[in-house]
Amino acid sequence: MENRPLEYDYTVAKMFMLTTIVLGIVGMSIGVFIAFELAFPGLNTIFGQGIAEYTNFSRLRPLHTDSVAFGFTVSGIFATWFYVGQRVLKVSMAESKFLMFVGKLQFWLYVIGVAAAVVSLFMGYTSSKEYAEFEWPIDIAIVVVWVLWGVSIFGLIGIRREKSLYISIWYYIATFLGVAMLYLFNNMEVPTMLATSAAGETGIGDWMHSVSMYAGTNDALVQWWYGHNAVAFVFTVPIIAMIYYFLPKESGQAIYSYKLSLLSFWGLMFVYLWAGGHHLLYSTVPDWMQTMGSIFSIVLILPSWGSAINMLLTMKGEWQQVAASPLIKFMVLASTFYMFSTLEGPIQAIKSVNAIAHFTDWIVGHVHDGTLGWVGFMIIAALYHMAPRVFKRELYSKGLMAAQFWIQTLGIVLYFTSMWIAGITQGMMWRAHDEFGNLAYSFMDTVDVLHPYYALRGTGGLLYLLGFFMFAYNIYKTMSARRVEESELQNASPMGA
Ligand code: HEM
Ligand code: HEM
Repeated sequence: MENRPLEYDYTVAKMFMLTTIVLGIVGMSIGVFIAFELAFPGLNTIFGQGIAEYTNFSRLRPLHTDSVAFGFTVSGIFATWFYVGQRVLKVSMAESKFLMFVGKLQFWLYVIGVAAAVVSLFMGYTSSKEYAEFEWPIDIAIVVVWVLWGVSIFGLIGIRREKSLYISIWYYIATFLGVAMLYLFNNMEVPTMLATSAAGETGIGDWMHSVSMYAGTNDALVQWWYGHNAVAFVFTVPIIAMIYYFLPKESGQAIYSYKLSLLSFWGLMFVYLWAGGHHLLYSTVPDWMQTMGSIFSIVLILPSWGSAINMLLTMKGEWQQVAASPLIKFMVLASTFYMFSTLEGPIQAIKSVNAIAHFTDWIVGHVHDGTLGWVGFMIIAALYHMAPRVFKRELYSKGLMAAQFWIQTLGIVLYFTSMWIAGITQGMMWRAHDEFGNLAYSFMDTVDVLHPYYALRGTGGLLYLLGFFMFAYNIYKTMSARRVEESELQNASPMGA
C-alpha cells in the first residue's frame, strides 16, 4: 500500500468545482447586468414595472457581490482545498468514511445555504451590512458549513502521512480561522421577534429580520474590521494558498523562497487586521484610528509584495513558459494584478488621496483589478490544472484557453481603466467650487460625464463573462472526453504529488 501511488478521492472537489463555475456564471452575469443598469438606467425596469422591485440595481447589487464572493470564490477555495489538501498531506479522503461524509454534508448544506441566500436577497431581506447582508438563519447555516470545513481540514491533517505542513496548508488554516472569527463577531445580531419595543411590546417584526448588536460608530468599526479582512481572508490568503501550490506544480519550478513565504505569511496575518480603518477615513471614528488604518495600509505593501515577488521569482529562468503555456499566463498575470492592487490600495488609503477616491468609481476599479485579475484568474487557473487530473481526461483545448486569456485580460483592462478615469473625474468634479465656495457642478453633471465610462466598463465586464463561458465550455468538454490515466496526461505535472 505504502509503495503504490495513492488514489485520491476527488468526489467533493468535483462537486465544489461545479458550484464554482455555476455561481461564477450567475454572479458575473448579474455583475454585467448591473453595470449596464448604471450606464442605461432604463434597464432597471426593462422587465416591466411590476417586477422592477426585483430587477433594480439596489436589489441586484448584493446578489452580485455575495454570489461572486461567497459563491464563486468560496466554492473555489473549497474545491481547491479538497484537491490540494489530500495531495500535500499525502492522504486520501477515501481512507476515512467520516471525512467523506463530512465533506459531502458540507457541500449539500452549502448548496442549501446558497439557495436560501439568493431567495432571501431577492425578496429584499438584508441586514444592510455590506458583505454581511444575510439574515440570521442563513448566518447560522454558514457557520455550520464553516465548522464542517474545519473538521475536514483538521481531520485530514490529523491522519496525514506527510509530517511537514506545506505553506499552502498554513494559508488554508488561516482562512478558516480568520473568516470564523470575523464572521462571528460582525454578525452578532438579535432577531427582532426576540426584542421588546419601547412600548413594552415583544415579538415585533418579521421573523427573518434582525438588528445588529452594535450601534453607530462601533457598528461601523466592527463592520469595516470585518469588510477589510474579508478582503484579506477570502480574496487574498486562500488565493495565495492556491498559487503556492499550483504555480510550482504547473511550471515544475520549486518555490523561489520558502523563508520569504513564511515571512510574508506572518506579515500579512499581523498587519491586515489593523488596516480596516482606511474604509472610515473622515468619518466619526477617532482620528488616531483612521491614521492607524492609513499607516498599516502602507506597511501592508511589504508582506503583499513579499508573496507576489516570491511567486514571480518562482518563474526565474523559465520565463519562456509564460509564452508557451496559457495556464502559466493566467497565474503570472494573477500575481501581477495582486501586486498592482496591493499598491493601488495603500495609495488610496493615504488620507489626502482618499479624500478624492472615497465614494467614487476609482474604488470600484481597485476592487475589480483585484478580484477579476487576481482572484478570478487564479481560481480559473487552479480549476484548469485540476480538471484533467480529477476527471482523468486530457484538457479539451489549449487554444480555447489562450483565447479566453486574451479576451478576459482585455475585459479587465477596459474595466479598471474606465473606472479610474470615471472615479478621478467624479472626485474632482464633486470638489470643484468657485471663489465663493459654491459647488461648480451638480450631481447630475457628473452622471452625464460618466456615461461613456460606464458603458465601457459594461463592455469590459461582458468580455470577462464571455471568457468565463469559454472556460465553462472547456471544462465541460474535458469532462466528457476519453478517459486517460494521470501519468498519461500530456501536460502531467513534472513535480510529483
Ligand atoms: C463580469 C464581471 C463583473 C462585472 C461586470 C462586475 C460589475 C460590478 C458592478 C457594476 C458593481 C457595482 C459598482 C457600484 O456600486 O458602483 C460591482 C461591485 C462589486 N463587485 Fe463586481 N463585477 C464583476 C465581477 C466581479 C467578481 C468576479 C468579483 C469578485 C470575485 C466582484 C466583486 C465585487 C465587489 C466586492 C463589489 C463591491 C465593490 C464596492 O463596494 O466598492 N465582481 N461589480
Ligand atoms: C495592501 C493591500 C490593500 C490595501 C491597503 C487596500 C486598501 C483599500 C482602500 C483604501 C479601499 C477604499 C476604502 C474607501 O475609501 O472606501 C479599498 C477598498 C476595497 N478593496 Fe482594497 N486594498 C488592498 C488590497 C485589496 C485586494 C487584493 C483586493 C481584492 C482582491 C481588495 C478589495 C477591496 C474591496 C472589495 C474594497 C471595497 C470595499 C467597499 O467599499 O465595499 N483590496 N481597499
